Amino acid sequence: MWSGRFREPLDQDFEQWQRSLGFDWRLLPQEVAASKAHARTIAAAGILTEVELEKILGALDAIRDEYSQRPPSDIYGCAQAEDIHHFVELELVARIADLGFKLHTGRSRNEQIATNLRLFVREKCASIAGRLGDWVRALTAQAAAAGDAVMPAYTHLQRAEPVLVGHWLQAYGEMLLRDMTRLGDLSRRLNYCPLGSGAVAGATLKLDRTIAARELGFDGPTANSMDATSDRDFALEFLQALTLIALHASRFAEEITLYATAEFGFVELPEAFSTGSSAMPQKKNPDLTELVRAKVARINGAAQTITMLLKGLPLAYNKDLQESQEPLFSASEAAERMVGLLARFTAALRFNTVRMRSACESGYLNAMAAATYLVHKGVPFRKAHEKIGQAVRYGLEKGCELDGLTLEELQQFGTEFEADFFSSVTLDATINCHDVIGGTAVTRVREALAAQEARLSAAMGQMDGNS
Ligand code: ARG
Repeated sequence: MWSGRFREPLDQDFEQWQRSLGFDWRLLPQEVAASKAHARTIAAAGILTEVELEKILGALDAIRDEYSQRPPSDIYGCAQAEDIHHFVELELVARIADLGFKLHTGRSRNEQIATNLRLFVREKCASIAGRLGDWVRALTAQAAAAGDAVMPAYTHLQRAEPVLVGHWLQAYGEMLLRDMTRLGDLSRRLNYCPLGSGAVAGATLKLDRTIAARELGFDGPTANSMDATSDRDFALEFLQALTLIALHASRFAEEITLYATAEFGFVELPEAFSTGSSAMPQKKNPDLTELVRAKVARINGAAQTITMLLKGLPLAYNKDLQESQEPLFSASEAAERMVGLLARFTAALRFNTVRMRSACESGYLNAMAAATYLVHKGVPFRKAHEKIGQAVRYGLEKGCELDGLTLEELQQFGTEFEADFFSSVTLDATINCHDVIGGTAVTRVREALAAQEARLSAAMGQMDGNS
């Protein structure tokens, strides 16, 4: 491919070591699409005749179709090819002889790999966003099914206040909707076509770069050839977005792991997504959530790798950039499969709402509501906090909840306590006093669910519009 100026053969170990075909074989569909787009561009510039163009396009399609049916090892096992660009060229020449070499007129592998990777990341953004959408749908379906079921909300992992189970599930829906829009944002930002940038300074032929850009669904050609051939910001941004997805997934996974313990007993692990122990016959282990909790290490590791790779890199293309591919492939595959599994796992979860409810019934989860009762009686919140604190202390000593105290006992802590206190601190009242936008009152959660579903549909609709 480039041996003309060399007199000595390459060191064999080095030759093998510097190849990228072992991982960039994944880019065959992108390489074919970008090559077809380039073929049209150089045909328009008069480099190829109509007949030659058709031959090249047909052969490129045939290469893609044939290898999509064959195992990847048939690509990466090719001993002659250094990378996927070289592989396609060799295949092309095998099919259409010297005409195959004509395709490499007016282009460089530097712009090819930059283009392929943008196409790859754009596709992964769409597919991962779609899977996130499935996951949000599973969460909203569980939230709707949970209805008025309640559970404790925790701060510092201590029981804090009761919330609707739906409210808790929708919290994850919010995180994932942000993740979906983040993928949409970055895929709009990367959607410019490097083809025509040449090796570094721009193509040496007067090419109409808008042809390839349009052909590949980009919004236009990139603006600067030096930037375009060496930019991998889009890959880093994508991995940063995946890091956030993996972080959100890890938080969900940790909660499910905890809630599936005998100590909590809030959720039943679906057998289809659990494993047993070869030692302890009674075990059902949460391997799925444990692996999900761990994936952020690999995914954020990839983001860190590319950060270090790009630091201090001089313009423009450097072979260092080849090292961005493996972490990118590994992290995107990990994220894609994980999110797909989480959607199905979430749909299969069964909550033990009786356990969740009974966890709300002890531990003074209505203390905030009780203090608010006093506020409505004209007591400043600071004072109300203190009076309820004293009532809680009294209850702890007596061994009962606030509603187990008599009115006379309560009145030791404040004359403001009246008979209506007891109806203000029931579980229902404690839930429904959070009657603000984003709060856990039953009507608010119902509204929030409808709003979340509408935002999900809009996000999915926007993705369909983009693709
Ligand atoms: N395999 C190379 C990569 O992934 C393609 C670009 C090679 N360019 C070059 N000038 N050697 O970065």
